[in-house]
Amino acid sequence: MQRVLTGIQASGKPHLGNLLGAIEPAIELSKSANRQSFLFIADLHSLTTIKNPIVMKDNTFSVAAAWLASGFDYEQNFIYRQSRLAGFHTELMWYLNCLTPFPMLANAHSFKDKSENLSDVNAGLFTYPVLQAADILLYQSHLIPVGKDQRQHIEMTRDIASTFNRTFGDTFVLPEAVINPDVMTIPGIDGRKMSKSLNNYIDVFLDEKSLLKQIKLIVSDSKTLEEPKDIETDITFQLFANTANKEQIAQLKSKYLAGNYGYGHAKKELYEVILERFKKHRQVYNYYMNHLDELERILKIGEEKAFVIANTTIEKVRIALGYA
Ligand code: ADP
Ligand code: TRP
Repeated sequence: MQRVLTGIQASGKPHLGNLLGAIEPAIELSKSANRQSFLFIADLHSLTTIKNPIVMKDNTFSVAAAWLASGFDYEQNFIYRQSRLAGFHTELMWYLNCLTPFPMLANAHSFKDKSENLSDVNAGLFTYPVLQAADILLYQSHLIPVGKDQRQHIEMTRDIASTFNRTFGDTFVLPEAVINPDVMTIPGIDGRKMSKSLNNYIDVFLDEKSLLKQIKLIVSDSKTLEEPKDIETDITFQLFANTANKEQIAQLKSKYLAGNYGYGHAKKELYEVILERFKKHRQVYNYYMNHLDELERILKIGEEKAFVIANTTIEKVRIALGYA
Protein backbone atom coordinates (compact mmCIF):
# COMPACT_ATOMS: atom_id res chain seq x y z
CA MET A 1 0.00 0.00 0.00
CA GLN A 2 1.42 3.36 -1.06
CA ARG A 3 0.73 6.41 1.05
CA VAL A 4 0.02 9.71 -0.69
CA LEU A 5 0.31 12.73 1.58
CA THR A 6 -0.11 16.44 1.11
CA GLY A 7 -0.59 19.49 3.32
CA ILE A 8 -2.41 22.71 2.57
CA GLN A 9 -1.84 25.84 4.55
CA ALA A 10 -4.84 27.53 6.10
CA SER A 11 -3.65 30.80 4.62
CA GLY A 12 -6.86 31.67 2.74
CA LYS A 13 -9.87 30.30 0.95
CA PRO A 14 -9.17 27.87 -1.90
CA HIS A 15 -9.54 29.48 -5.36
CA LEU A 16 -9.93 28.25 -8.94
CA GLY A 17 -6.12 27.85 -9.32
CA ASN A 18 -5.89 25.70 -6.16
CA LEU A 19 -8.82 23.55 -7.30
CA LEU A 20 -7.55 22.90 -10.83
CA GLY A 21 -3.82 22.92 -9.99
CA ALA A 22 -3.68 21.02 -6.71
CA ILE A 23 -6.92 19.68 -5.26
CA GLU A 24 -8.32 17.83 -8.29
CA PRO A 25 -4.97 16.25 -9.36
CA ALA A 26 -4.28 15.06 -5.77
CA ILE A 27 -7.74 13.49 -5.53
CA GLU A 28 -7.16 11.72 -8.87
CA LEU A 29 -3.82 10.39 -7.59
CA SER A 30 -5.49 8.99 -4.47
CA LYS A 31 -8.16 7.06 -6.37
CA SER A 32 -5.99 4.06 -7.26
CA ALA A 33 -6.88 0.92 -5.27
CA ASN A 34 -3.43 0.35 -3.76
CA ARG A 35 -3.14 3.88 -2.41
CA GLN A 36 -4.19 5.56 0.77
CA SER A 37 -4.33 9.31 0.94
CA PHE A 38 -3.39 11.64 3.78
CA LEU A 39 -4.57 15.17 3.48
CA PHE A 40 -4.01 17.60 6.28
CA ILE A 41 -4.52 21.26 6.93
CA ALA A 42 -1.12 22.69 7.80
CA ASP A 43 -2.47 25.13 10.37
CA LEU A 44 0.73 25.04 12.46
CA HIS A 45 2.63 26.25 9.40
CA SER A 46 0.04 28.98 8.90
CA LEU A 47 0.92 30.49 12.27
CA THR A 48 4.15 31.76 10.66
CA THR A 49 1.94 34.33 8.94
CA ILE A 50 -1.62 34.31 10.37
CA LYS A 51 -1.97 35.74 13.86
CA ASN A 52 -5.75 35.95 14.03
CA PRO A 53 -7.62 32.99 15.61
CA ILE A 54 -10.92 33.72 13.86
CA VAL A 55 -9.27 33.86 10.44
CA MET A 56 -7.30 30.69 11.26
CA LYS A 57 -10.45 28.77 12.15
CA ASP A 58 -12.46 30.06 9.24
CA ASN A 59 -9.72 29.25 6.70
CA THR A 60 -9.25 25.79 8.20
CA PHE A 61 -12.93 24.96 7.74
CA SER A 62 -12.97 26.45 4.22
CA VAL A 63 -10.01 24.34 3.13
CA ALA A 64 -11.54 21.16 4.57
CA ALA A 65 -14.94 21.94 2.98
CA ALA A 66 -13.30 22.60 -0.41
CA TRP A 67 -11.56 19.21 -0.39
CA LEU A 68 -14.70 17.36 0.63
CA ALA A 69 -16.64 19.30 -2.03
CA SER A 70 -14.08 18.17 -4.63
CA GLY A 71 -14.78 14.52 -3.81
CA PHE A 72 -12.18 13.61 -1.19
CA ASP A 73 -13.32 10.28 0.30
CA TYR A 74 -12.75 10.74 4.03
CA GLU A 75 -13.85 7.22 4.91
CA GLN A 76 -11.20 5.49 2.80
CA ASN A 77 -8.57 8.15 3.44
CA PHE A 78 -7.40 10.60 6.10
CA ILE A 79 -8.27 14.27 6.51
CA TYR A 80 -7.06 16.02 9.65
CA ARG A 81 -5.76 19.21 11.22
CA GLN A 82 -2.02 19.22 11.94
CA SER A 83 -2.69 21.23 15.13
CA ARG A 84 -4.79 18.39 16.57
CA LEU A 85 -1.74 16.10 16.37
CA ALA A 86 0.65 18.88 17.33
CA GLY A 87 2.34 16.77 20.03
CA PHE A 88 3.57 14.22 17.48
CA HIS A 89 4.42 16.71 14.74
CA THR A 90 6.45 18.99 17.00
CA GLU A 91 8.14 16.15 18.89
CA LEU A 92 9.43 14.68 15.63
CA MET A 93 10.32 18.16 14.44
CA TRP A 94 12.64 18.61 17.43
CA TYR A 95 14.44 15.34 16.75
CA LEU A 96 14.83 16.32 13.09
CA ASN A 97 15.96 19.85 14.04
CA CYS A 98 18.94 18.27 15.77
CA LEU A 99 19.94 16.57 12.51
CA THR A 100 19.38 19.53 10.19
CA PRO A 101 22.43 21.62 9.24
CA PHE A 102 21.94 25.37 9.63
CA PRO A 103 23.06 26.18 6.03
CA MET A 104 20.37 23.86 4.63
CA LEU A 105 17.69 26.00 6.25
CA ALA A 106 19.42 29.25 5.36
CA ASN A 107 19.20 28.10 1.71
CA ALA A 108 15.50 27.29 1.73
CA HIS A 109 13.42 29.50 -0.61
CA SER A 110 10.73 29.85 2.04
CA PHE A 111 13.28 31.67 4.22
CA LYS A 112 15.51 33.26 1.56
CA ASP A 113 12.59 35.02 -0.15
CA LYS A 114 11.91 36.89 3.06
CA SER A 115 15.43 37.19 4.43
CA GLU A 116 16.10 40.71 3.14
CA ASN A 117 14.37 42.04 6.18
CA LEU A 118 15.46 39.67 8.93
CA SER A 119 13.54 41.46 11.65
CA ASP A 120 10.36 40.27 9.87
CA VAL A 121 11.45 36.62 9.97
CA ASN A 122 10.28 34.55 12.93
CA ALA A 123 12.01 31.33 13.98
CA GLY A 124 8.94 29.38 12.80
CA LEU A 125 9.53 30.58 9.27
CA PHE A 126 13.20 29.58 9.48
CA THR A 127 12.45 26.03 10.67
CA TYR A 128 9.34 25.71 8.46
CA PRO A 129 10.93 22.98 6.26
CA VAL A 130 11.74 20.83 9.31
CA LEU A 131 8.11 20.85 10.45
CA GLN A 132 7.19 19.91 6.89
CA ALA A 133 9.67 17.01 6.98
CA ALA A 134 8.08 15.85 10.26
CA ASP A 135 4.59 16.04 8.65
CA ILE A 136 5.74 13.74 5.87
CA LEU A 137 7.94 11.27 7.78
CA LEU A 138 5.48 10.81 10.66
CA TYR A 139 3.09 8.98 8.31
CA GLN A 140 5.79 7.06 6.41
CA SER A 141 4.51 8.60 3.17
CA HIS A 142 5.71 7.59 -0.28
CA LEU A 143 4.25 10.16 -2.68
CA ILE A 144 3.86 13.88 -2.06
CA PRO A 145 1.79 15.72 -4.70
CA VAL A 146 2.82 19.38 -4.60
CA GLY A 147 3.36 22.43 -6.78
CA LYS A 148 6.79 23.17 -8.28
CA ASP A 149 7.59 25.62 -5.49
CA GLN A 150 7.61 22.77 -2.96
CA ARG A 151 10.23 20.59 -4.68
CA GLN A 152 13.04 21.91 -2.50
CA HIS A 153 11.15 21.09 0.71
CA ILE A 154 10.68 17.47 -0.36
CA GLU A 155 14.40 17.21 -1.26
CA MET A 156 15.26 18.52 2.21
CA THR A 157 12.90 15.97 3.76
CA ARG A 158 14.73 13.18 1.91
CA ASP A 159 18.11 14.51 3.06
CA ILE A 160 17.02 14.74 6.69
CA ALA A 161 15.41 11.27 6.60
CA SER A 162 18.56 9.77 5.05
CA THR A 163 20.70 11.31 7.78
CA PHE A 164 18.37 9.88 10.43
CA ASN A 165 18.35 6.41 8.83
CA ARG A 166 22.16 6.41 8.55
CA THR A 167 22.67 7.59 12.12
CA PHE A 168 19.99 5.64 14.00
CA GLY A 169 19.12 2.73 11.69
CA ASP A 170 16.48 2.35 9.03
CA THR A 171 13.41 4.17 10.35
CA PHE A 172 11.79 6.33 7.68
CA VAL A 173 10.42 5.80 4.18
CA LEU A 174 12.11 8.22 1.75
CA PRO A 175 9.31 10.22 0.10
CA GLU A 176 9.11 11.36 -3.51
CA ALA A 177 7.60 14.60 -4.81
CA VAL A 178 4.92 14.19 -7.49
CA ILE A 179 4.92 17.34 -9.60
CA ASN A 180 2.49 17.16 -12.47
CA PRO A 181 3.99 18.99 -15.47
CA ASP A 182 0.63 18.89 -17.30
CA VAL A 183 -1.08 21.05 -14.74
CA MET A 184 -1.10 24.53 -16.13
CA THR A 185 -0.59 27.63 -14.12
CA ILE A 186 -4.02 29.20 -13.98
CA PRO A 187 -3.89 32.95 -14.62
CA GLY A 188 -5.55 35.38 -12.24
CA ILE A 189 -7.94 38.13 -13.32
CA ASP A 190 -4.93 40.42 -14.00
CA GLY A 191 -3.01 37.82 -16.04
CA ARG A 192 -0.39 37.03 -13.39
CA LYS A 193 -0.46 33.61 -11.69
CA MET A 194 -3.71 33.30 -9.76
CA SER A 195 -2.75 33.61 -6.11
CA LYS A 196 -4.29 34.48 -2.77
CA SER A 197 -1.45 36.85 -2.02
CA LEU A 198 -1.90 38.79 -5.30
CA ASN A 199 -5.61 39.22 -4.65
CA ASN A 200 -6.35 38.34 -8.28
CA TYR A 201 -8.24 35.11 -7.73
CA ILE A 202 -11.66 33.73 -8.61
CA ASP A 203 -13.41 32.17 -5.65
CA VAL A 204 -15.76 29.57 -7.17
CA PHE A 205 -17.55 29.18 -3.85
CA LEU A 206 -18.83 32.76 -3.76
CA ASP A 207 -22.54 33.54 -4.07
CA GLU A 208 -23.60 34.05 -7.71
CA LYS A 209 -23.73 37.82 -7.67
CA SER A 210 -20.26 38.26 -6.13
CA LEU A 211 -18.81 35.57 -8.42
CA LEU A 212 -20.09 37.41 -11.50
CA LYS A 213 -18.67 40.63 -10.12
CA GLN A 214 -15.23 39.00 -9.72
CA ILE A 215 -15.38 37.63 -13.28
CA LYS A 216 -16.35 41.03 -14.68
CA LEU A 217 -13.08 42.41 -13.28
CA ILE A 218 -10.97 40.20 -15.58
CA VAL A 219 -8.61 42.45 -17.51
CA SER A 220 -8.97 42.59 -21.33
CA ASP A 221 -7.44 44.61 -24.17
CA SER A 222 -9.21 47.51 -25.88
CA LYS A 223 -10.32 45.79 -29.11
CA THR A 224 -13.71 46.96 -30.38
CA LEU A 225 -16.75 44.67 -30.41
CA GLU A 226 -16.39 44.09 -34.17
CA GLU A 227 -12.71 43.10 -34.15
CA PRO A 228 -11.63 39.44 -33.94
CA LYS A 229 -10.12 38.64 -30.54
CA ASP A 230 -6.80 37.00 -29.67
CA ILE A 231 -7.30 33.62 -27.98
CA GLU A 232 -3.60 33.30 -27.11
CA THR A 233 -3.46 36.36 -24.91
CA ASP A 234 -6.99 36.91 -23.63
CA ILE A 235 -7.31 36.01 -19.95
CA THR A 236 -11.05 35.26 -20.06
CA PHE A 237 -10.40 32.78 -22.88
CA GLN A 238 -7.53 31.13 -20.96
CA LEU A 239 -9.71 30.69 -17.90
CA PHE A 240 -12.54 29.33 -20.05
CA ALA A 241 -10.14 26.88 -21.75
CA ASN A 242 -9.09 25.53 -18.35
CA THR A 243 -12.64 25.08 -17.11
CA ALA A 244 -14.94 24.17 -20.04
CA ASN A 245 -15.20 20.98 -22.10
CA LYS A 246 -13.68 20.60 -25.61
CA GLU A 247 -16.88 21.41 -27.46
CA GLN A 248 -17.52 24.55 -25.45
CA ILE A 249 -13.92 25.67 -25.99
CA ALA A 250 -14.18 25.14 -29.77
CA GLN A 251 -17.39 27.18 -29.88
CA LEU A 252 -15.94 30.08 -27.93
CA LYS A 253 -12.82 29.97 -30.09
CA SER A 254 -14.83 30.47 -33.29
CA LYS A 255 -16.77 33.34 -31.74
CA TYR A 256 -13.48 35.01 -30.74
CA LEU A 257 -11.98 34.58 -34.21
CA ALA A 258 -15.11 35.70 -36.06
CA GLY A 259 -15.41 39.09 -34.32
CA ASN A 260 -18.66 40.87 -33.42
CA TYR A 261 -18.37 39.24 -30.06
CA GLY A 262 -17.44 41.26 -26.98
CA TYR A 263 -15.50 40.45 -23.83
CA GLY A 264 -18.64 41.06 -21.77
CA HIS A 265 -20.33 38.13 -23.52
CA ALA A 266 -17.28 35.93 -23.02
CA LYS A 267 -17.22 36.73 -19.31
CA LYS A 268 -20.88 35.79 -18.99
CA GLU A 269 -20.09 32.45 -20.68
CA LEU A 270 -17.15 31.88 -18.36
CA TYR A 271 -19.42 32.60 -15.39
CA GLU A 272 -21.95 30.04 -16.63
CA VAL A 273 -19.34 27.39 -17.28
CA ILE A 274 -17.89 27.87 -13.78
CA LEU A 275 -21.35 27.57 -12.23
CA GLU A 276 -22.01 24.41 -14.24
CA ARG A 277 -18.64 22.76 -13.65
CA PHE A 278 -18.65 23.51 -9.92
CA LYS A 279 -22.38 23.14 -9.26
CA LYS A 280 -22.01 20.09 -7.04
CA HIS A 281 -18.87 21.50 -5.40
CA ARG A 282 -20.71 24.68 -4.47
CA GLN A 283 -23.61 22.78 -2.96
CA VAL A 284 -21.41 20.50 -0.88
CA TYR A 285 -19.13 23.34 0.20
CA ASN A 286 -22.06 25.47 1.34
CA TYR A 287 -23.60 22.51 3.09
CA TYR A 288 -20.48 21.97 5.20
CA MET A 289 -19.92 25.66 5.87
CA ASN A 290 -23.49 25.76 7.21
CA HIS A 291 -23.00 22.54 9.21
CA LEU A 292 -19.65 23.10 10.89
CA ASP A 293 -20.49 20.49 13.53
CA GLU A 294 -20.52 17.88 10.78
CA LEU A 295 -17.25 19.12 9.36
CA GLU A 296 -15.80 18.96 12.86
CA ARG A 297 -17.03 15.36 13.21
CA ILE A 298 -15.38 14.34 9.92
CA LEU A 299 -12.08 15.97 10.91
CA LYS A 300 -12.17 14.20 14.28
CA ILE A 301 -12.59 10.83 12.55
CA GLY A 302 -9.48 11.60 10.48
CA GLU A 303 -7.59 12.78 13.54
CA GLU A 304 -8.32 9.57 15.46
CA LYS A 305 -7.14 7.43 12.53
CA ALA A 306 -4.05 9.61 12.01
CA PHE A 307 -3.22 9.37 15.74
CA VAL A 308 -2.73 5.60 15.49
CA ILE A 309 -0.24 5.89 12.62
CA ALA A 310 1.66 8.85 14.07
CA ASN A 311 1.90 7.09 17.42
CA THR A 312 3.37 3.96 15.82
CA THR A 313 6.07 5.99 14.07
CA ILE A 314 6.91 8.04 17.16
CA GLU A 315 7.34 4.90 19.27
CA LYS A 316 9.73 3.51 16.67
CA VAL A 317 11.65 6.80 16.61
CA ARG A 318 11.90 7.01 20.42
CA ILE A 319 13.34 3.51 20.53
CA ALA A 320 15.84 4.36 17.78
CA LEU A 321 16.97 7.46 19.73
CA GLY A 322 17.33 5.65 23.05
CA TYR A 323 14.36 7.32 24.72
CA ALA A 324 12.29 4.18 25.12
P1 ADP B 1 -1.51 30.68 -3.37
O1 ADP B 1 -0.48 31.10 -4.42
O2 ADP B 1 -2.88 31.13 -3.75
O3 ADP B 1 -1.11 31.10 -1.95
P2 ADP B 1 -0.70 28.10 -2.50
O4 ADP B 1 0.76 28.49 -2.58
O5 ADP B 1 -1.34 27.93 -1.15
O6 ADP B 1 -1.55 29.12 -3.38
O7 ADP B 1 -0.87 26.77 -3.34
C1 ADP B 1 -1.57 25.64 -2.96
C2 ADP B 1 -1.50 24.65 -4.11
O8 ADP B 1 -2.24 25.15 -5.24
C3 ADP B 1 -0.09 24.39 -4.61
O9 ADP B 1 0.05 22.99 -4.91
C4 ADP B 1 0.04 25.22 -5.87
O10 ADP B 1 0.94 24.69 -6.80
C5 ADP B 1 -1.40 25.22 -6.41
N1 ADP B 1 -1.68 26.48 -7.11
C6 ADP B 1 -1.75 27.70 -6.53
N2 ADP B 1 -2.03 28.65 -7.45
C7 ADP B 1 -2.12 28.02 -8.65
C8 ADP B 1 -2.38 28.47 -10.00
N3 ADP B 1 -2.59 29.75 -10.28
N4 ADP B 1 -2.40 27.53 -10.99
C9 ADP B 1 -2.19 26.23 -10.70
N5 ADP B 1 -1.93 25.74 -9.46
C10 ADP B 1 -1.90 26.61 -8.43
N1 TRP C 1 4.54 24.02 2.57
C1 TRP C 1 3.37 23.56 1.87
C2 TRP C 1 2.78 24.71 1.05
O1 TRP C 1 2.92 25.86 1.42
C3 TRP C 1 2.33 23.04 2.85
C4 TRP C 1 2.80 21.80 3.57
C5 TRP C 1 3.09 21.69 4.91
C6 TRP C 1 3.03 20.53 2.99
N2 TRP C 1 3.47 20.41 5.20
C7 TRP C 1 3.44 19.66 4.07
C8 TRP C 1 2.92 20.02 1.69
C9 TRP C 1 3.78 18.32 3.85
C10 TRP C 1 3.25 18.67 1.48
C11 TRP C 1 3.66 17.83 2.56
O2 TRP C 1 2.14 24.47 0.02
